[in-house]
Amino acid sequence: MGYTGHRPALDVVLDGLRRLEYRGYDSAGVAVLDGDGGLAVERKAGRLANLEARLDEVGRDSLTGGTGMGHTRWATHGAPVDRNSHPHRDTTGRIAVVHNGIIENFAQLRAELEADGIELASDTDSETAAHLVSRIYDGDLAAAVRTVSRRLEGAFTLVVTHADEPDKVVAARRSSPLVVGVGEGETFLASDVAAFIEHTRNAVELGQDQVVVITKDGYEVTDFHGEPVQAKPFEVNWDLSAAEKGGHDYFMLKEIEEQPEALANTLRGHFTDGRIVLDEQRLADQDLRDVDKVFVVACGTAYHSGLVAKYAIEHWTRLPVECELASEFRYRDPVLDRDTLVVAISQSGETADTLEAVRHAREQKARVLAICNTNGAQIPRESDAVLYTHAGPEIGVAATKTFLAQIATNYLVGLALAQARGTKYPDEVAREFHELEAMPAAVQQALGTVGQVRELAHELSDSKAILFLGRHVGFPVALEGALKLKELAYMHAEGFAAGELKHGPIALIEDQLPVVVVMPSPKGRAVLHSKLLSNISEIQARGARTIVIAEEGDDTVKPFADHLIEVPAVPTLLQPLVSSVPLQVLAAEIARSRGYDVDKPRNLAKSVTVE
Ligand code: G6P
Repeated sequence: MGYTGHRPALDVVLDGLRRLEYRGYDSAGVAVLDGDGGLAVERKAGRLANLEARLDEVGRDSLTGGTGMGHTRWATHGAPVDRNSHPHRDTTGRIAVVHNGIIENFAQLRAELEADGIELASDTDSETAAHLVSRIYDGDLAAAVRTVSRRLEGAFTLVVTHADEPDKVVAARRSSPLVVGVGEGETFLASDVAAFIEHTRNAVELGQDQVVVITKDGYEVTDFHGEPVQAKPFEVNWDLSAAEKGGHDYFMLKEIEEQPEALANTLRGHFTDGRIVLDEQRLADQDLRDVDKVFVVACGTAYHSGLVAKYAIEHWTRLPVECELASEFRYRDPVLDRDTLVVAISQSGETADTLEAVRHAREQKARVLAICNTNGAQIPRESDAVLYTHAGPEIGVAATKTFLAQIATNYLVGLALAQARGTKYPDEVAREFHELEAMPAAVQQALGTVGQVRELAHELSDSKAILFLGRHVGFPVALEGALKLKELAYMHAEGFAAGELKHGPIALIEDQLPVVVVMPSPKGRAVLHSKLLSNISEIQARGARTIVIAEEGDDTVKPFADHLIEVPAVPTLLQPLVSSVPLQVLAAEIARSRGYDVDKPRNLAKSVTVE
């Protein structure tokens, strides 16, 4: 975050960092320019609270002034210790830099600086930028930052200040996020609008390879060669209250409870005059008709939403759909051409692995449709078309409401493809959409399980491991349930396709091992249901403690369930939207019983902007 204006910069920057802390919390640091040539820096490993404690200890008197910047770090190069925390300074101590991303040619730059006799004070790639700026600075900070930016390879947002130019902050951006906030007599820079929306809703989106200079009176944008660029202003429509916990113990629970609303917002406006309308996306019906293969690429939870989508899109469109982890897709030479539709799913729209997959697909002439929750993020900018999930800001690192919104959006894509290609009659498409429209109410009903799941979580909190089983769309739900538990409760968890059990995982079953089983509806695909009943009896016979998520009124499952969690009856393809809910709560509440920070699990970041 950067700031210059009429308020004390330290307060504004610390407030902003508080809202950005979800992006990384390995360390935090601030720099403030006093306007008389002084530049003070404080930084500390660990959470922002550690930095605040440090400020209380050393006093804040040296950190007065209206220009400053701050950073919260998610470590890439160099351990999360004080000396690797940002801001970094040059050897004169007059220039300070914070950086997000990875400077890929840093080893070469570092060697070059060392050959010049410069001793680097940290193990980071970021520090090199401070020295490079310093080496060429001749009174024009923006010019120096532009020159240095041209030399850097990789992804970066750099925010730079110089004690000799105390009324400005300069920032550069390539492939990492950066937005400007324009207030009255004050201007902000941040990775995310959440940092400044309490002060202004007027924002400006920065493009690729651009440098911005902010002063209290405004901003100026150029490319890396100094050519002026017209930047695009926009108004932020998220409320501050939407980004706050609103009475819940942790953001994740608030976000779990917001799921009905998130789903309704995501579906809103996408069905008019008997047709699916995807007006934000810029692919014509003809483009959709030409598609002969679909790839879904994503990471983490977004990938699980893609696995769910595969079942629906293949079923509705008769197109082959492959769902792949972005980090694998990119490096294995997938078969792509202009009739391939690549659906890139990313909540943040910044995930480096997914971004690289998008770039690769476009180089191969495939059409790329992004599904994203963050307006103006890099992945939608680089895609042919975008569909936004309207889930609102998600602060908890573990994705919840955006997962459900992603599934719903994937389904809209599937229905739009079926509609354009005529693989479903209009009345069938309409029926599927109306079933989707009924889901916010079904999810609301599934939220009725929270109390029961909380008690169960308490009982299971000392378990060493938990296994998750499912079939068909219940399989990705099992994977997602296991991922949530790993992320939040640091407990060994694995999801399996129930049919695979007998091919290996059944050897893991031992007395009292908790196994969560995601049951399909007995009315939907009866064959799946009976196969899964056999799987549960196999594990129960071997002593497992069975926790069964089943459709309400499914009596056949009762004898096999040590704990039964009932969710509302919905069509098979839509079951993940209800059966995921208790699994989200289970992971969060086990984490809480174990005393962990649910919203900020260790070692993880909300958006991972490095490969
Ligand atoms: C990180 C987060 C996960 C998320 C994944 C993909 O690993 O911790 O919760 O699912 O990135 O993020 P994206 O923003 O691309 O959906």
